[in-house]
Amino acid sequence: MVGEVLKSFQKVSSHAGDKYLVVVDTTLGSGGHTAAIMSTKVVANNKNRHSFELLDLDERAIDLLKDRVELAGLKVRFHKQNFRIQPSGLNYEPEKNYFILADLGLSQNQLDTGLGFSFKTDAPLDMRLDQQLAVTAADLLKLLPVRQLTKIFGEYGQLSQAEDLAKLIVHRRNTGFYIATTAQLNEVLKSLKLGTPKHMAKAYQALRIAVNSELDNLSQLLEWSQEFLTSGKSMLAVITFHSIEQSIVVRFCKSKGLKLGIIKPSAAEVISNPRSRSAILNLVTKN
Ligand SMILES: C[S@@+](CC[C@H](N)C(=O)[O-])C[C@H]1O[C@@H](n2cnc3c(N)ncnc32)[C@H](O)[C@@H]1O
Repeated sequence: MVGEVLKSFQKVSSHAGDKYLVVVDTTLGSGGHTAAIMSTKVVANNKNRHSFELLDLDERAIDLLKDRVELAGLKVRFHKQNFRIQPSGLNYEPEKNYFILADLGLSQNQLDTGLGFSFKTDAPLDMRLDQQLAVTAADLLKLLPVRQLTKIFGEYGQLSQAEDLAKLIVHRRNTGFYIATTAQLNEVLKSLKLGTPKHMAKAYQALRIAVNSELDNLSQLLEWSQEFLTSGKSMLAVITFHSIEQSIVVRFCKSKGLKLGIIKPSAAEVISNPRSRSAILNLVTKN
């Protein structure tokens, strides 16, 4: 949704007038959104009025950005960290405006990395976005009791057969069969008639959310970033990919009295980028 993100940035930028504008991209990825913002005329012509705080758990992100855009003359700080924590050195300053962006989920690179994020590629079930995390998806399947596995597949994957799946996983491991790879997980899903792409994607989504504490990360991000909306001219833009993330954003805005605008991808974008079909761009502002 680069076009919509750019339009939102330009809105904040025009409100900012002569004020200093800080762009905080909390999910830099391969730098698509940030590179597009850096390439706008308003940034190119006013480099000293803009700065960029760029976050990602994945350290390759900064190199990917350098491949896309000329960084010379721009004020850029890179933070290899989880967005759940407010980056050090970034504090709200009333004389500045802020455009904060979070494009949740995984980049195509990560889906292809062999860390077991995709049911389409045979790989060990790792799923840690941050390799410093101690527990992999295979560990969860090996160690958690039926109740907790049911919660993961039911709440995070919204699978109606969550309990059957959890019971089968535990039954199999009681007979010495541990699920350690995507192929093994796929086989178990298929045996419960959960072998359709839709069901498999949900089961994988559930494990990924659990391994990376994704919902809690999002809640923490919303909590610290709302302080940067204080001036009323700043904006938080969050791209969600499933209803659980979406409801966290909606509930948060209601509870804090924040204004929420919702933009869905155009039909043309869905055709050119099928992964965008479930994306929702949430524009959060303070009245
Ligand atoms: C969908 S991609 C972002 C793509 C990016 N907007 C672009 O245009 O290239 C999501 C990125 O967020 C990162 N990410 C996911 N969860 C994160 C977290 N809790 N903290 C920091 N980065 C995170 C991933 O490593 C991934 O690179």
